[in-house]
Order: sequence, then structure tokens, then C-alpha cells
Amino acid sequence: MYKTIGILTGGGDAPGLNAVIRAAVTTATGQYGLKVIGIEDGFEGLLGETHTRPLAASDVRGLLARGGTILGTRNRGRFVEHHAEGTTTKPQAIYDEAVANLNRMGIDALVVLGGEGTLAIAADFDKLGVPVVGVPKTIDNDLACTELTFGFITAMDFATDALDRLHTTAESHERVMILEVMGRNTGWIALHSGIAGGADVILIPEIPFTMQSVADRVRARDAAGSNFSIVVAAEGAIETGHELIYQDKGDPQHAPRLGGIGAYCRYELEQLTGKETRCVVLGHLQRGGRPNAFDRMLATNYGSCAVRALVEGKRGVMVALQAGDVITVPISEAIANIKTVPAIGQLVRTARDTGISFGAPDEARYHRQP
Ligand code: F6P
Repeated sequence: MYKTIGILTGGGDAPGLNAVIRAAVTTATGQYGLKVIGIEDGFEGLLGETHTRPLAASDVRGLLARGGTILGTRNRGRFVEHHAEGTTTKPQAIYDEAVANLNRMGIDALVVLGGEGTLAIAADFDKLGVPVVGVPKTIDNDLACTELTFGFITAMDFATDALDRLHTTAESHERVMILEVMGRNTGWIALHSGIAGGADVILIPEIPFTMQSVADRVRARDAAGSNFSIVVAAEGAIETGHELIYQDKGDPQHAPRLGGIGAYCRYELEQLTGKETRCVVLGHLQRGGRPNAFDRMLATNYGSCAVRALVEGKRGVMVALQAGDVITVPISEAIANIKTVPAIGQLVRTARDTGISFGAPDEARYHRQP
């Protein structure tokens, strides 16, 4: 039985991180009499002089609804080496230093809150003898083996609210408004918020688009008397025959960052349709701020279940939502492939059946012609 567990948050922040920390600490200390050490700045806090702090129930009071993470977060940092030719390696000496520091601090096991990148490092720690339970975090909802990651529903709510607001200004000015949302190489935020926010066109990485097809939808709306259109573009959406658009990919120490598809579409669409077109990039507003009620509940359940899983002797696993219950799955399976939107799945079909275009080259065949 463990005496002390560590908890850390890695990768981009997401609404609900603090709610997970709160639930894990109250469960571990209150139910099992464990000590909890918060590790600051992701795995980086385990290096050098280490950055940690004890977490008692009193330290997590008031955290349920607070955005961000009280522990700070980092991307993979020194736990990955990027090489000029685009490859990466794992620096063994860095891992050894972190594991030695965990042993020195008496931390027996870890709860790791992160997406695919952070959980890959977590799986390595487990292999090196440190029992780990992961908690699936990302607004992108792109982790496999779980129906939901915490933070996603809040991001979807925020994007939907933005679409509601764009509707009124688009209609007043008879413009096309494009909303660029996050999601890395998946279209979950775009698809869900696009449906909830009544978009006319949704562009997602899973369905390559053509500008001509998007313009056709805008023209058809005009012809039917709706002189404005709303387009949601996932940052990873790809035009047929073109490359992904990055806002920066020059720095070999960091993973390339997607962004710019909205501005690109704005220009091209204006050229093709002659309609005034504007682009709004929602950016990190999707990640900041308070988790909504659902994410507070999900994060709390994940945090508590993660501690119970450790106490029950599970390791190398991630808590996951399947059919409404939180279960555990091997981290290796969760990070093997990202979870993408099924391009011919139910939700895409529903979107098309309700008049939404995905801008596919053959989009017309999914819609009944007048
Ligand atoms: O993974 C979450 C996410 O917000 C993505 O949607 C986005 O592409 C990326 O992180 C942005 O990361 P950064 O923190 O480097 O700006």
C-alpha cells in the first residue's frame, strides 16, 4: 500500500484540471489517509532542485470551478529531444534524474493529468517502476479509448456561444463569418459546436474540403434569401491538394503549431463569392476560464476514480469514460492513435441531413437537390 502519491498536470491547460486535483486530494487524504505531493510545472518539476508542494484538503478548497491549474503545466519540456530532421528521442538521463528524485521524496506513485504527449511520458515512468494512473485531459477530445476528455464540453460551450454571437452580426451585415477553433488534427470542437451553434459549413481535418464547395453553399444560401453564412473551421482542416496551415513550425525545440486556416478561407471565400467575409480566431479563450457544470462533474469523477484505481493496485492505466461509467484502460492503448471524427459517422450524417455542408468536393451528393 502506498503512503505518498504525487500529482501533476502536463501539456496545454484545460478547464477542469483544478477540479481533478481537488477530487484526487480529498479522496486520497480523506478516504485512504495518503499524503499527496503536488508536482509543479508538469514533469519538469521533478528535475534539478525539484518544484513540489504538499497538498492537503485545505489546499484544494475553492478549486472546483477555478480555471487553469494551481500546479502549473508544461509541454514535454526536457523529456523529449527534438532534432532538426523532425525526429524526437527520449533523454534517458533526464528520466533517471526524475525517478531518483521521486524516490528521494518518497513518492510511491503518480496521478498524471494530460493528453497524448504527457501520457506517453507517464507510460515511460510506469515502465521505469513508478506506478502511474493517467487522467484524460484535452479540450480537443482526441484521446482514444475514452468517449470524453475533461475540458472538451466547456470548450464546445464557449465556441457555441461565439457562434451565437457571430450569427447576429453576420445577419446584420449580410456577411460571411468564419470561426477558427482549436482541435489539433481532429474536428471534435468544430463538429460539436458547429451543430450546436447552427453553422452552415463545418471544415474538419477528417473531411478535406474545396473552396469551391464552400462557396457553393454560401451562394445557395444567398439564392434562398439567407444573405449571411457561418463557417466553423477546425485549425487542422485541410483543403484538398493543399498542406496543413501552421502559424509557426520553424523552431526545432517545439512541435509545430497549427493556425491560419480561418484567415486563408476568409480571403479565398471573399474572392470567390464577392461577399464581405470576416474571420475570428477563438484561440486560447477556449482553454481559459471556468469549467462548466458537466466538466466539473466529470473531472471530479475522474480524479476520485484515478486515486481508487491506484489504491486497488492498478498501474499503467488511464481512467476513461465508456458508456457512462469511468473505467480504466491501458495508457498504451489510449496513446497508440488519436481519436478522430468518423467521416461517415452518425453525427456527420445528422449535420448533413440538417443542411450543414462540410465543403467536400462531392458535397452535393449528400444533400437533396431542390
Ligand atoms: O491540445 C490543446 C491545444 O489547445 C490545441 O487545440 C492547440 O493546437 C494547442 O493546444 C495549442 O497549444 P499551445 O499551448 O502551444 O498554444
